[in-house]
Amino acid sequence: MTIGKSVSDHNNHSSLATHWNDLYQKASGKLPWEVDETPSEIQHWARVISPGFRVLDLGCGRGANARHFAGLGFPVTGIDFSVAAITEARASAERLGLDNIEFMAADVLRYRSPRPFDFVYDYSVLHHISDADLTDYVNTLMSTTRTGSLYGLVCYAEMVGGGSGTRVGTLGNSIRHRTREEVRRILSTGLTEVEYHRSKLGPSGAHAAHHFLFRRI
Ligand SMILES: C[S@@+](CC[C@H](N)C(=O)[O-])C[C@H]1O[C@@H](n2cnc3c(N)ncnc32)[C@H](O)[C@@H]1O
Repeated sequence: MTIGKSVSDHNNHSSLATHWNDLYQKASGKLPWEVDETPSEIQHWARVISPGFRVLDLGCGRGANARHFAGLGFPVTGIDFSVAAITEARASAERLGLDNIEFMAADVLRYRSPRPFDFVYDYSVLHHISDADLTDYVNTLMSTTRTGSLYGLVCYAEMVGGGSGTRVGTLGNSIRHRTREEVRRILSTGLTEVEYHRSKLGPSGAHAAHHFLFRRI
């Protein structure tokens, strides 16, 4: 089921990346997902992971969450396919004098790292990944982690009224609402769920969200 006009069902990745990049470039202030306080899930993960863990933020945007981990001393890499977002993320880290963080313009579906990370997380990106691209997304997770690595995920839960479906957000982004079971199935080839909480996402916490922690098997 798709609700709304599919203005952002882009035919290829470069137009999707351009769409996101335009959002960052044209933003005069904060975008709806850029909240004042570090999200509680990010704070939770920072408490759960061990000191020294190498951290990867998939779809880091302008990098506020990644900077939170770096500020606590974790070595962090943040990737996003919006060059505008990455440019601002780098500038903010520089202003704060954080030298344990790097930001790279890269597609989450194609990114490969020479060394696996201990903790990889996705805060509000998976629900923008189409079903057709899920295999590539999981391949990235498999290639950026090793047995025992942790993977944190916050994504939209079911549609209002229940069940899975797609809607178009106010900024033209396609948002796929998946059930907990669907998310677990997508990741089941290499990851096992170790924590699950309900959460909220969207303007004023308007929509139910999943807050997962998985371990690579
Ligand atoms: C809702 S925003 C969340 C940004 C960030 N995680 C945060 O919480 O501020 C989704 C982000 O995912 C990025 N994104 C979406 N698809 C991507 C892909 N295939 N590769 C890299 N970045 C992607 C967008 O550019 C955008 O910055």
